[in-house]
Amino acid sequence: MQLRVTSLPGDGIGPEVISQAICVLEEVASGFGHDLELDEKEIGGAALAKFGNPLPEATTQACLASQAVLLGAVGNPAFDHNPRELRPEAGLLRLRQELRAFANLRPAVFYPMLAGCSPLREEIIRGTDILIVRELLGGLYFGEPRSLEIDHGDGHAVNTMRYTEPEIERVARVAFELARSRRKRVLSIDKSNVLECSRLWREVVTRVGRDFSDVLLSHMYVDSAAMSLVLKPAEFDVILTENMFGDILSDEAGGIVGSLGLLASASIGGPVGLYEPVHGSAPDIAGQGIANPLGAILSVALMLRHTFNLAKEAECVEAGVTSTLMGGFRTRDLARPGERTVSTEQMGAQIAEFVSLAARANDRAAS
Ligand code: IPM
Ligand code: MN
Repeated sequence: MQLRVTSLPGDGIGPEVISQAICVLEEVASGFGHDLELDEKEIGGAALAKFGNPLPEATTQACLASQAVLLGAVGNPAFDHNPRELRPEAGLLRLRQELRAFANLRPAVFYPMLAGCSPLREEIIRGTDILIVRELLGGLYFGEPRSLEIDHGDGHAVNTMRYTEPEIERVARVAFELARSRRKRVLSIDKSNVLECSRLWREVVTRVGRDFSDVLLSHMYVDSAAMSLVLKPAEFDVILTENMFGDILSDEAGGIVGSLGLLASASIGGPVGLYEPVHGSAPDIAGQGIANPLGAILSVALMLRHTFNLAKEAECVEAGVTSTLMGGFRTRDLARPGERTVSTEQMGAQIAEFVSLAARANDRAAS
């Protein structure tokens, strides 16, 4: 099979983790007999520095011409004082729009061998397997009008939370469909006791839920959900929520399972899927070779599954991650006091090697 992928390393630790994710993807391609065509482009601060634009036209075109996009991270404090359109983040937000990727899937799974990483007691965290489905193209992130005036004590700012029924319905359908291949439960999170957008959200999700009578739908307010997540994370299955709530709750989920560095994401729904780790650019540790590449590598697994429909290959990458953690390999964010740590590259190489061995074994079994 032909795999046409655009890679966008971006800023901070993005390039380091993406280079490991690509090593793993290359092993998958050669091991399972796929033809990988990779194109690398700029986004975020890296693109701003080079072209004065966080999403150059050449990047958009390359992404739209490929089947999937693998992104590292965007964000660089050097551009913090730029106007909004000239911040690194604007590049990512525009790319999500260009790719029409309205459903953002963020799995948060507890690994038993990482029990010591979670701030929660093992009996609470055990069995946690959450899939956050975050609406990605609406709400406060994109609503108009928006404005900012800073005026010596007299300034004001406006953001608009706006949702339409079709926007809610399409992402709800994604969540219900995905719940069918899991424990068949969807928890929709809103703030319908206060916000009109959430009233509409609850109304539409309830209506869509009637088409999925095999899936159990429940609702929770976001404040209460934020607390329940730390009190009983194992009780959650699929979480369906709007853009900003999903942004916040997914970082919380990362903390719960032990490190934000573990979390991968898939942004789907449009013609081209966008795959990125959840952790962000982490400028404080960039360039030191200590970043955790697992979020990026697990994003490759999501790409194999969701864009290319290659379940066996996706499972192989995930098994590589589990096996590497079982083998005691820990980047700094995962290491307990006294545990030996490995570099970003060593962690990636370990998983790439697992994939190459597993692919060969698979080959022998087939012949
Ligand atoms: C994320 C990030 C982005 C977001 C930023 C970098 C624009 O925090 O993917 O969670 O807020 O969506
Ligand atoms: Mn975020």
